[in-house]
Amino acid sequence: MKKILITGCAGYIGGTFCYEALKKNYEVLGIDNFINSTDKNIKYFKKNFSKFRFVDLDLSISGEKVKDIFNDFAPDYVVHFAGLKAVGESETKPDLYWQNNVLSTMNIMEACLSGTRLIFSSSATVYGESVIQPISEKCAIKSESVYGSTKISSELLIKDYSRTKNIEAICLRYFNPVGSHKDGIVVEDYTNKPNNLMPKLIEVIKNKSNEISVFGNDYNTQDGTGERDYIHISDLVAGHFSAIEYIYDNEENLFKTYNLGTGKATSVLELVESFNRVNSTNIKIDFTDRRKGDVEVCYADPHLANCELKWKAVYSIDEMCRDAWNAVKNDT
Ligand code: NAD
Ligand code: UD1
Repeated sequence: MKKILITGCAGYIGGTFCYEALKKNYEVLGIDNFINSTDKNIKYFKKNFSKFRFVDLDLSISGEKVKDIFNDFAPDYVVHFAGLKAVGESETKPDLYWQNNVLSTMNIMEACLSGTRLIFSSSATVYGESVIQPISEKCAIKSESVYGSTKISSELLIKDYSRTKNIEAICLRYFNPVGSHKDGIVVEDYTNKPNNLMPKLIEVIKNKSNEISVFGNDYNTQDGTGERDYIHISDLVAGHFSAIEYIYDNEENLFKTYNLGTGKATSVLELVESFNRVNSTNIKIDFTDRRKGDVEVCYADPHLANCELKWKAVYSIDEMCRDAWNAVKNDT
């Protein structure tokens, strides 16, 4: 059971997972079309791992080609990371997000043979603004953006195919993945007008602007800023390998969803304070208006994954901030 097909392997999370899978000696076939990445990771994998092969393909437009690839490679596992992920952009380009995210998933499910084991990158965004915190998998699903709709629809699609085609599937709902693998090979992009907090902090230092806009200080939280469940990329990736072990051992027609989070809420100010302290930086705060679409608080109840997948996040906020910066500080 050593063949993994990884979609979105040129990107941040798929690339980090791919790197770990290759180090664990899996035979990997990667697919990406670089719609939101460069070929930097792919070049590295090709150069350093003989068990890596790659196909440049838009998964959303060529169902027959996807089927051919699946038939030729006959993967034991499929880990489907490929997708567009910017909430704001999804509101201005709904056609792109529906086409790209949902049709890719559809083509993949069509290509899976009976008995295939699949892991899908879902998101805490499927819970919308939940009044219940921490959020467990039993909480209601609510679409509050086009991006959210594509994740909910993809989960439903996978559930139906799992039942009707005997595909064993696990959807992992990520909270806020941050930081970089300690080896610093794959990093989150901070160069392309980042919107998310951690890449934004890195951009601020790199541009020597030294000030971060904090979106709102009037939330009903301890210090008034938004609270999130930040999770180290290495913990997140470890969750995928736990899911692979679980899915290998389990029954036919398995369909499960799990939260991948730490169970701890951290405010924007706490994250910036930690970043400054561990990296000896001096980023200052500029409070601005709330960002449209932001929720006040969002953190996971990770007990289901802790118990069933036997997985637990172990990295602290300080380690997330340290590893995020260490991986890129020497970039020119
Ligand atoms: P990323 O943009 O760095 O990587 C995604 C990769 O998928 C990119 O390399 C992109 O080129 C590729 N891709 C997109 N559409 C494709 C298509 N049609 N055909 C082939 N390749 C395609 O994003 P990421 O942060 O690594 O996210 C991976 C997955 O995790 C996404 O599905 C995202 O929605 C989900 N997710 C991410 C976060 C986060 O904070 N990063 C949070 C929750 C869920
Ligand atoms: C956002 C998406 C979420 C997606 C995730 C990863 C929204 C509403 N949510 O999550 O669906 O899964 O990205 O792609 O877009 N902040 C600042 N200043 C900044 C940037 C962020 O104060 O420059 C604050 C935000 O207001 C928020 C926190 O930092 O309170 C985290 O923001 P971010 O990193 O963008 O993640 P989310 O909004 O949680």
